[in-house]
Amino acid sequence: MFRLPRILIVLIVLLLAPVPAALAGGAMHFHARPADGLALAPPMGWDSWNHFGCRVSARLIEREAQAMVASGMKAAGYRYVIIDDCWQGGRGANGNIYPNPKLFPRGIKAVADYVHSLGLKFGIYSDAGDRTCQGRPGSRGHEYQDALQYARWGVDYLKYDWCHTGGLNPREAYATMSDALRASGRPIVFSLCDWGVRKPWRWGAAAGGNLWRTTPDIWDAWRGRHGFSLGMLNILDRQVGLAKYAGPGHWNDPDMLEVGNGGMTNAQYRAQFSLWAMLAAPLIAGNDLAHMNAATRAILTNREVIAVDQDRLGIEGQPVYRHGNAEIWVRPLVGGREAVVLLNRGRQPLHIRLRWSELGLPGYLPLRLRDLWRHKDLPVATHGVTFEVAPTSVIMLTETPEQPRTPG
Ligand code: GLA
Repeated sequence: MFRLPRILIVLIVLLLAPVPAALAGGAMHFHARPADGLALAPPMGWDSWNHFGCRVSARLIEREAQAMVASGMKAAGYRYVIIDDCWQGGRGANGNIYPNPKLFPRGIKAVADYVHSLGLKFGIYSDAGDRTCQGRPGSRGHEYQDALQYARWGVDYLKYDWCHTGGLNPREAYATMSDALRASGRPIVFSLCDWGVRKPWRWGAAAGGNLWRTTPDIWDAWRGRHGFSLGMLNILDRQVGLAKYAGPGHWNDPDMLEVGNGGMTNAQYRAQFSLWAMLAAPLIAGNDLAHMNAATRAILTNREVIAVDQDRLGIEGQPVYRHGNAEIWVRPLVGGREAVVLLNRGRQPLHIRLRWSELGLPGYLPLRLRDLWRHKDLPVATHGVTFEVAPTSVIMLTETPEQPRTPG
C-alpha cells in the first residue's frame, strides 16, 4: 500500500487543523462569547453627549426621558436614555463608584427607576482606562465592582470608552468588562467605543460587544474635520466595506445622530437619518428632546425610515453607484424588498438615475417605488427612474416588485 511520508502527514494535519483562536486573533486567554440575545435590532435611544456635553444632571435626564415619551419618540421605537460622561463623583472607601452628589442628589438608582417608570430603558457611560475622556474615574481595575453597581442601579446599557488606557489591549479590556457585565446577572447592552482605532468590527462581537464605534466622534457638519471629530459624510465614507461585520446582536456604530443640533440644514439631517438607517446604525438621538421643533421631531420619528433601520434581516446597505457627487446606496429588506438612498453630496442640484440593474433586477420588471420622506407611492415603472436631488440632500425610497395580476 502507498504510504505518505510522515513529514507530509504532519504538514497536512497542520494545514487542515483549525487555527488556534489565540494565534488567529493575536490575543491570549481569549474565548469568543456566545450571543447574548440583546440588541437584535440596532438600539434606539438618546444620549446626553452631543448636545449637553458635561452638563448632565438628574433633572436633565428625567426631563429628556419625559420628552422622549411626550414627543412620540417612544411610540416610534426609541427606548434607551443614556447618561454619557461626567456623571461620576468618585469612589468610596470600598472602591464603589458614586455619582456627583450635586448633580444626582438622590443617586443614580432614583433616575433609573424614573426612566423605567416611563417604560424606557436606562444607559450609562464608563471608560476602560483609569479616567474617562473628561477626566472622571474610569473602570480600570474596578470592572466587576462597577458592573455589579450598574446592575444594582438598574442599568440596561453601558457605553464603554477608550481614553487613558495606556498599555491595555482593547480586545482584552472590552472582553473583561463584558465578562463582568454577564457576571452581574443583569442583561446590559454593551457599546464599545474605541473610535474604530483597532478595527473593532473584526473582534467586537467576540469580545461581547453589541455595537462598536467605527470612527472618531461625529461633528455636526455635512463634511470636514474639527480636531478629532469628523463631518457626517466623512463618517459615512468610513463605513464602506464594513457591512459584512454587522448583524442582529452586533452592529457597526457610526456614532450618534446630530439631527436637531443646529449645524446642518433639515435636508442634511434627513440625509444623516436616512443614511444611518441604510447602515443599520444605532439610532441614538443627540439633541435636546425637550426643546425640539416640529421639523426635527418629524425627522426623528419618520417611521418608514425607522422601519428600514430596524429591518429584521439586519443586513447593512452598501453603495452601488458613485459618479461625481451622485451616490446610490441599496439595502436588502425582509420579503425581497430593498431600500434605496440617492445622495447628492454637492452644492448643485443633480439628476440621478436609478437603474434596476443597480438593484440587481432585470429592467423589464415592474417596480413600485415609495418615497419615504414624502410618504408617497410613485407610479409603477420599468428599467429606471430619474430623480432630481436637491443640493446636499437625499431621496429615500423602497422598492417592491409589483405583484403579477391574478388572471380573471
Ligand atoms: C469620547 C466619545 C464621545 C463621548 C466623549 C465623552 O470622545 O467618543 O462619544 O462619549 O468621549 O467624554
